[in-house]
Amino acid sequence: MLDTNSPLFWQESYQNGRIPWDLGEPTPPFARLASSGDYPPGEMIVLGAGYGHDARLFAQHGFSVTAVDFAPQAATTMRKLNDENHPITVVEQDIFALDGDWYGRFDYLLEYTCFCAIDPARRGEYAALASRLLKPGGLYIALAFPIGRRPGGPPFVVQPDAVVELLVEHGFTLLHREFPHDSVPSRQKIEELIILQKRP
Ligand SMILES: C[S@@+](CC[C@H](N)C(=O)[O-])C[C@H]1O[C@@H](n2cnc3c(N)ncnc32)[C@H](O)[C@@H]1O
Repeated sequence: MLDTNSPLFWQESYQNGRIPWDLGEPTPPFARLASSGDYPPGEMIVLGAGYGHDARLFAQHGFSVTAVDFAPQAATTMRKLNDENHPITVVEQDIFALDGDWYGRFDYLLEYTCFCAIDPARRGEYAALASRLLKPGGLYIALAFPIGRRPGGPPFVVQPDAVVELLVEHGFTLLHREFPHDSVPSRQKIEELIILQKRP
């Protein structure tokens, strides 16, 4: 049994075409945010970016996007799909191995189905990493998914209240949360948009 902490686990899913998380396009709630004008373009990091649909979306809206994923097929596909007019920087690396060179560089951290992919025992480590990567005042933008209470994973279910609480403990302030009206039908009410700000 492969370990979800290993890129081999995810690579095997990609190679077998078992990627039920992949929407094949940006998720509508992020598309709405990107075009809202409420979030001025800046430096953004996308963790566990997969095939990079959300990363490319924000790049097309003028953001300078770094997309991180440790599965070779995810990184290769992101490089292949890169839009030369709005390129993203693809980093094939374990997010937990991102070192001090990356700290404090980002105005935004975007996350969708990465949090639920990591071992729940590492959630504190994840929140600490998010805080380190962002500039003071930077925004953590995520769809907390899948909301539930069953054991096991991946996906490891989330409770948005607990995710918010964890981030608040790691130096964030909650700015906004909503059940998006425009989530894809199969994810309605089982994902919640959360936006938090790293305290200056
Ligand atoms: C469920 S998929 C989600 C992909 C993408 N965010 C999406 O919504 O389509 C989780 C992704 O996170 C990546 N991942 C999991 N743990 C990681 C880690 N520690 N470092 C980097 N990438 C990781 C996997 O390789 C996989 O591509």
